[in-house]
Amino acid sequence: METKLRQAEALLREHGQEHLLEVLGRASGEQQESLTEQILAIDYRALKEVGTQTEEKRDAELAPIPSLDAEQWSERERESFAEAGWAELKAGRVGVIVVAGGQGSRLGHDGPKGTMDIGLPSGKLLFQIQAERLLNVSARAGRFVPWYIMTSPDNHDVTAAFFREHGYFGYPEEEIYFFQQHTMPAIDHAGRLLLSGPAEINFTASGNGECFSSLARTGALADMKRRGLAWLFYYNVDNALVKMADPAFIGAAVHFGYPVATKVVEKKDAGEKVGMACLKDGRPSIVEYTEFPPSLLEERDAAGRLLFNLGNMSIHLFSLPFIERHADTDVPYHAASKKIVHVDREGRTVTPEKPNAYKLERFIFDFFPLAEGMTVLKVNREEEFAPVKNKEGADSPESARRLLLALHRRWLLAAGVSEEELAGQEPEVSPLVSCDGEGLDAKTVRELLDHG
Ligand code: UD1
Repeated sequence: METKLRQAEALLREHGQEHLLEVLGRASGEQQESLTEQILAIDYRALKEVGTQTEEKRDAELAPIPSLDAEQWSERERESFAEAGWAELKAGRVGVIVVAGGQGSRLGHDGPKGTMDIGLPSGKLLFQIQAERLLNVSARAGRFVPWYIMTSPDNHDVTAAFFREHGYFGYPEEEIYFFQQHTMPAIDHAGRLLLSGPAEINFTASGNGECFSSLARTGALADMKRRGLAWLFYYNVDNALVKMADPAFIGAAVHFGYPVATKVVEKKDAGEKVGMACLKDGRPSIVEYTEFPPSLLEERDAAGRLLFNLGNMSIHLFSLPFIERHADTDVPYHAASKKIVHVDREGRTVTPEKPNAYKLERFIFDFFPLAEGMTVLKVNREEEFAPVKNKEGADSPESARRLLLALHRRWLLAAGVSEEELAGQEPEVSPLVSCDGEGLDAKTVRELLDHG
């Protein structure tokens, strides 16, 4: 232990973190041991690189990226892509991963985002909607699709307990794999490590870009290989309209054969806060809205359409070899200046009134330029994109609820129900009955309306 303590002190001196020497010296017994381990585990090189990234990004050359438009597909094309996707699902070659390690700080919901009730008539929660959609896909594939759930130390226990308490929403427990992502320490604007307790470094979940390395570290990747998976369908926990393991998307990715595929939506307007799919220095990329040059946001083509109009909906598909190849690849951390509550050297809690420190995050799409190519598939946002980010207004539980119920209403109208029959009703279709509007014949619809 003595050697470790000396090593930790040396690291603090070497990396300009001398302010923690006193804290470390003062701590005793177990606390000192634990703080020593924390200091030894930090990736100081990554911390140092944070300050040098911004300029690099500004210099990159951005250009529109070619994309496919699912709404322009002929019926035959759609069927053939879906068929290819179903073949992968039936052969057990597809897994699904939800990234659910974030804190959802903008939402003000107490608990993991997936445990949110968006106000549907059924009272179904986000995780439940996803579980039931996956049950539906699994039933049609004739086998269960393994479901990987990425949490963080901030919400792991409560997420796992939530699933347990709800009987995994009917999904077989052995087909669900919970794993925790990596964390990074917060640093103040001078690059100094912050504390979250008298002898605790302030670590927070360090972005969805920790996904590949965390899959490898926790054994989840080995589990995927053992099961013979070839593709991993990736999505954000907060999209109430996500088409789980969408067969047509999988089929298109298989057809074009690139290691990465991504779904995009046409942006609502130039200012919408979504990442942008584009070519960055000629490589397939997504650039986050916070880092996209404002001068390019409004650029338009000859027809007056936004030049950069492909919004990231955070639905991707990765080939397993790509994940394996890049499990140890370093992508940069992005620094976001935030108000970070911490503990000072005397052990007093500090609640800042303005941003005081950087939270460091890796983004999953920083791996995209490493692919030799990427399938970009534009889909209808009304059918597939209802993110829950804010307490109210755009991208809120209420907007997601409205989008979902409007879609279900359109399914029923397409199945032959009249506007009159639906008057005054808010029909919600259970994903166990239909998760993409499929199979809604007159009898099913009648039962649904009769039983509310
Ligand atoms: C994200 C995308 C944005 C896209 C939008 C679509 C990123 C960085 N940005 O924005 O380009 O247009 O979705 O809705 O992905 N997460 C973790 N661990 C973390 C942090 C986040 O698992 O440490 C998960 C969250 O739980 C969430 C997802 O990653 O499911 C995205 O969250 P966040 O990083 O907050 O990005 P958004 O602002 O939602």
